[in-house]
Amino acid sequence: MIDIDRIRADTPATSRLAYLHNAGAALMPAPVVAAMKQHIDLESETGGYAAADRESDRLEAVYGSVARLLNAGPDEIALVENATVAWQMAFYSLTFRPGDRILTAEAEYAANYVAFLQVAKRTGATIEIVPSDASGELDVHALERMIDARVKLIAMTWVPTNGGLVNPAASVGKIARARGIPYLLDACQAVGQMEVDVDNIGCDMLSATGRKFLRGPRGTGFLYVRRAMLQQLEPPMIDHFAAPWVSRDEYRLRDDARRFETWENNYAARLGLGVAVDYALDIGIGPIEQRCRLLADRLRSGLASIGGITIRDLGRSPGAIVSFTMEGHEADSIVSSAGSAGITIGASDPPSTRIDAEIRSLPLLVRASPHYYNTEAEIDRLIDHVAGLAMR
Ligand SMILES: Cc1ncc(COP(=O)(O)O)c(C=O)c1O
Repeated sequence: MIDIDRIRADTPATSRLAYLHNAGAALMPAPVVAAMKQHIDLESETGGYAAADRESDRLEAVYGSVARLLNAGPDEIALVENATVAWQMAFYSLTFRPGDRILTAEAEYAANYVAFLQVAKRTGATIEIVPSDASGELDVHALERMIDARVKLIAMTWVPTNGGLVNPAASVGKIARARGIPYLLDACQAVGQMEVDVDNIGCDMLSATGRKFLRGPRGTGFLYVRRAMLQQLEPPMIDHFAAPWVSRDEYRLRDDARRFETWENNYAARLGLGVAVDYALDIGIGPIEQRCRLLADRLRSGLASIGGITIRDLGRSPGAIVSFTMEGHEADSIVSSAGSAGITIGASDPPSTRIDAEIRSLPLLVRASPHYYNTEAEIDRLIDHVAGLAMR
């Protein structure tokens, strides 16, 4: 059982706000904030280098925490400044030739898709969208049929930014593994709200951010690269941390995933990320996932009962992102009126998932994303607020 009272006491803003914007940036728990403040104080008292030296054990432990979260090894983790950099480091390490095929899903995130476009333009590789099944999830059978020797990458967003869809990450992993195709999973919206086990999923590379469902600080992210894959990936850019300069004409890439990092870092934020991961692990990802689903389901069914509302979430078992539109009301006006009522939600714009948005003719969507620290009463406040708008 999650001790909601304790967790809300650790999250002071919950006394003022019904905060349902965790897919944007979640509220950080107090221990995360304290760890960052302490480190900044230490930096101001001793200087940044001495502060990092003094905290070297705790800084090293962050790799172990992230590894535990993913069921990976610490040597398979790179800590970087956001999920995009993590994803880019993996993607741009791969090499493509004319005719190579990149397979992806309909709701792929914009940052990833523009990178596909750039690499396709540079190399002559092609981008192909695996169609979705009737539920809206990536169609695993269609994927299987699309595989041939020219498929050089399967890259999929597990939980898209624009709704509750949870793509079948582990089923895709089985196919990728069986065919020996590199599999890059964008788990940005998944970590912190659901179980993420890289062995079970079978991905070779996985990227994620700290600030969303993990409740870590902004400007943090991480990349997982499977040990067996590491040696095959030369990062697109290196510095002397990733690849020590061992003689005048020679560098030697690190053996571990830190080959995707650079020397300089925001150590306060890193420590905050580590505390956020430990905080989630301490509560238990299983109970977190259960409660996220419970609250999201309550929100979905409450909203669906209001006239003029269309729930836009896809998939058999949607997660903690609830997306909807309302007849006669623009999404941004709903977001701002909720804000005035002390309810923080967000919106998702079509270009952030352009292919899915085009297929479904989606306008700007309202996006409400509860987390385990929310209460049923907060969910009901949003439902009541939207019901009130419907009556105007
Ligand atoms: C699915 C998905 N992937 C990647 C990202 C990018 O994450 P970051 O902003 O940490 O680079 C986001 C951010 O919204 C996202 O929703």
